[in-house]
Amino acid sequence: MNRNKRVHRRTVLQAVAGTGFLLTLSPGFLLTGCDGGVRATESVTLGLDSEEYDVELDLRATPDSVPILPGAPSEVWRYRAELLKGPENTLTENTKSYLGPTIRLRRGQRVKIHIHNELPEATTVHWHGLHVPSDVDGQPRLPIQPGETMTIGFEVLDRAGLFWYHSHAHGEQGGRVGFQSYAGLAGLLIVEDDEEAGLGLPSGDNELLLVLQDRTFAGANELVYLDGGMRAMMDRMHGFLGDRILVNGVPPATRKVATRPYRIRVLNGSNARIYKLAWSDGRPVTVIGADGGLLPEPEDRPYATLAPAQRLDIWLDLSEAQPGSTLELISDSFQAGMMGGMGMMGSNALPLGSRFTLASLAVADSVEVNEQLPAQLGLQRQGIPVGSTTRIRSFELSPVMMRGFAINGRRFEGSSVAADEKARLGDTEIWEFRNNTPMPHPMHIHGLQFNIVGRRGGSSDSLQQGLVDSGWHDTVLVMPRETVQLAMKFERFAGLYIYHCHNMEHEDAGMMRYFQVQS
Ligand code: C2O
Ligand code: CU
Repeated sequence: MNRNKRVHRRTVLQAVAGTGFLLTLSPGFLLTGCDGGVRATESVTLGLDSEEYDVELDLRATPDSVPILPGAPSEVWRYRAELLKGPENTLTENTKSYLGPTIRLRRGQRVKIHIHNELPEATTVHWHGLHVPSDVDGQPRLPIQPGETMTIGFEVLDRAGLFWYHSHAHGEQGGRVGFQSYAGLAGLLIVEDDEEAGLGLPSGDNELLLVLQDRTFAGANELVYLDGGMRAMMDRMHGFLGDRILVNGVPPATRKVATRPYRIRVLNGSNARIYKLAWSDGRPVTVIGADGGLLPEPEDRPYATLAPAQRLDIWLDLSEAQPGSTLELISDSFQAGMMGGMGMMGSNALPLGSRFTLASLAVADSVEVNEQLPAQLGLQRQGIPVGSTTRIRSFELSPVMMRGFAINGRRFEGSSVAADEKARLGDTEIWEFRNNTPMPHPMHIHGLQFNIVGRRGGSSDSLQQGLVDSGWHDTVLVMPRETVQLAMKFERFAGLYIYHCHNMEHEDAGMMRYFQVQS
């Protein structure tokens, strides 16, 4: 193997040094993950010499105290970052709340990140949606212990889109993704490329980034998560729902806008809440992009459904708006009753399916701009071709009495991989999720973007018309009793990856498995 690979291996080793449990394993096991190690099959850079990196960052996961609600600040865990090398606009700090800095990368950049864990427990950082080697994917099998640093490197291979990064820790006692993300360990990651830039979509002040989350607070503004008792038990089953909505880490706010088009990019960073995005005046929601970047062409929907971990890119043209008027982005009401009673049980003040405001856009300035929504958006990257000979791999989602949910009867067991969880590098497959439960599950697959081939059998409900299935995705909402087929291709990286439900409480309870891409 080349010199670069060795550099990469050493950094992984440094990161796990000092942890008794891992040290008892041979370095060979750690690095190859029982045959699941990184293997570059094309000329892909895994670990470059530092002078060859385009961007270098220090990223700290650290306790902090930030204002969220009026009154006392709240204790949080959050990411802080410092730019060591690279374009000045790489990092945008979120000074107003707990969200990590927004990281802006360009396709083709080689990025090196030193991740420092200043928390009292192990953590990892997962680059949600990015096509990166297994060893830098932030998987639970490579935890960063308290006080340790892990250095990772990757090349930005994805096309332009809105991605995000968050904790993916899962210890002996179970998952910590729900807790750590809820405590604040999440941030946006934007990939830009020439192709998207060529479309001239609204940018700068005319590009709104919205991270939707829900939180519950106690008397002195302390964050409350699964605080014991009957309610906590129900929350574990259904997923945690906060009783307040936060947008970018603070309560929903009013924002001054002008009579012009806007690009609104939304991440559902909530643990379990599903949003039904709509405009208060009933105008259609014009969706231009999803998880993996722009759609082939814009799509008008009465509303847009956004499940945990998903992103949507929305075009809003306020050219005709009256100065003085206000338009609200809302999450509209929907029926959650059929979803296993989710939201009806317990004492949540904001049950699933409630209607609330996410942002108020107050039209202040009248301006003359001539920006048109392009009729075609997705210039490159056609869909993955599938046919009658494409292998179908089927996964049944089923309930496990009192212990959450299983995938093909299995729950998370470290990095063990069953025979039917091994795929071949270079293959195209159809993955079929059959939801045999009364709850919706946002299923996420690491390391790639897939196409949604089709859905069948789901009870038609008040979220259906908002499901955006075209384009590229890394997370798909599988409705109760529904079967969804996804087309994916295992490219470039062999090794271990994860697939799981992104309802974080489901994931933490074991609705998560490793799969292996074999070269
Ligand atoms: Cu956003 Cu495996 O996660
Ligand atoms: Cu689930």
